[in-house]
Amino acid sequence: MWKNEKKAGVVIKMDDKIVLKAENLEKTFGAGKKAVKAVDGVSFAVREKEIFALLGPNGAGKTTTVKMLLNLVSPDKGSIQIFGEDMPKVQKEVMKEIGTLLEGSRNLYWHMTVRENVYYFANLRGKSAREVKDDMEMWAERLRIQDKLEEEVGKLSRGMQQKAAIICALATKPKLLILDELLLGLDIITRFEVEKLVKELKEISTLIISSHDLRFIEKVSDRILIINKGKVVAEGTASELRHKISYAKYRFTLRKNEESRYLEELKSIRGVEISFYEGNIDTDILELTFEKPELIYDVFDIFRKFSVIPVEIDNLGEPFEEIFKSFVEGGENK
Ligand SMILES: Nc1ncnc2c1ncn2[C@@H]1O[C@H](COP(=O)(O)OP(=O)(O)OP(=O)(O)O)[C@@H](O)[C@H]1O
Ligand SMILES: [Mg+2]
Repeated sequence: MWKNEKKAGVVIKMDDKIVLKAENLEKTFGAGKKAVKAVDGVSFAVREKEIFALLGPNGAGKTTTVKMLLNLVSPDKGSIQIFGEDMPKVQKEVMKEIGTLLEGSRNLYWHMTVRENVYYFANLRGKSAREVKDDMEMWAERLRIQDKLEEEVGKLSRGMQQKAAIICALATKPKLLILDELLLGLDIITRFEVEKLVKELKEISTLIISSHDLRFIEKVSDRILIINKGKVVAEGTASELRHKISYAKYRFTLRKNEESRYLEELKSIRGVEISFYEGNIDTDILELTFEKPELIYDVFDIFRKFSVIPVEIDNLGEPFEEIFKSFVEGGENK
């Protein structure tokens, strides 16, 4: 449907089915001196059955973007297409296929029980209580809230409210899930369960998620859009983002059977730097930084030539937090 196009460094291929496409979204709150440009020219496309993450510091514009996708905030500029339909036209039909989580419990009715909330929201999406009952009970069990289904949402703990809101989003088996602040208030055990759960949901749905838990985002996301001050600063898989910021770095433990003569040849490879070396009698420990990952072949050629055997190789890549910080602090597109 869409032609080959390049957006923020990512090529969308013809055969990728695009579920959602946002172009040049802009939103300013307030006017005059108090005006806040919350979203400033954000574009992205989400492919079918991928987990697409919105990442950014507080106030970056993630929630405002999500609200525009759901027509809860109207954009000043830009366009949105979901399932190939222009939004907000035909909004009602499209919305039936979308499961949403908006800053946790705020979209639930506090005087209704968890079960009533799930049935109510399912109903809005054209599904009867009978159709969603089994799924609701299954998710409730997995999120360990099965004994709270008959309790009023307003009386539940913050984390339990979040679980209830997640179940409301999932119960109708929507084709698209938009889950803002997915892990908000959840304990560590539940976070692990949610991690498993989103990977399973990917089999049947497309997911747009946001969270401040970078370890979680790095682990589950197929693609990540980093937003800062309303603008896209990076887009790509976690490993693409990593390689844009830092060189590949590995630690080798090497078994050698003669002097470390191979070192001289290693030093002559352009684009490979020895950042650490410790020579022992029959093993060497070596840390190498690669400007391009494929330079590792040249290194292996030299190891072979000198009969040096790598007995252990460790990836010394920077933690994702550092990558994220560097994009946000760097400010512009790298
Ligand atoms: N209804 C509103 N009225 C005025 N300003 C708003 C409104 N909603 C959001 N903003 C402002 O827009 C900017 C972006 O906010 P937004 O909630 O989209 O950020 P976010 O990325 O979701 O942040 P967080 O990680 O804290 O949830 C912020 O400066 C915020 O104060
Ligand atoms: Mg937010």
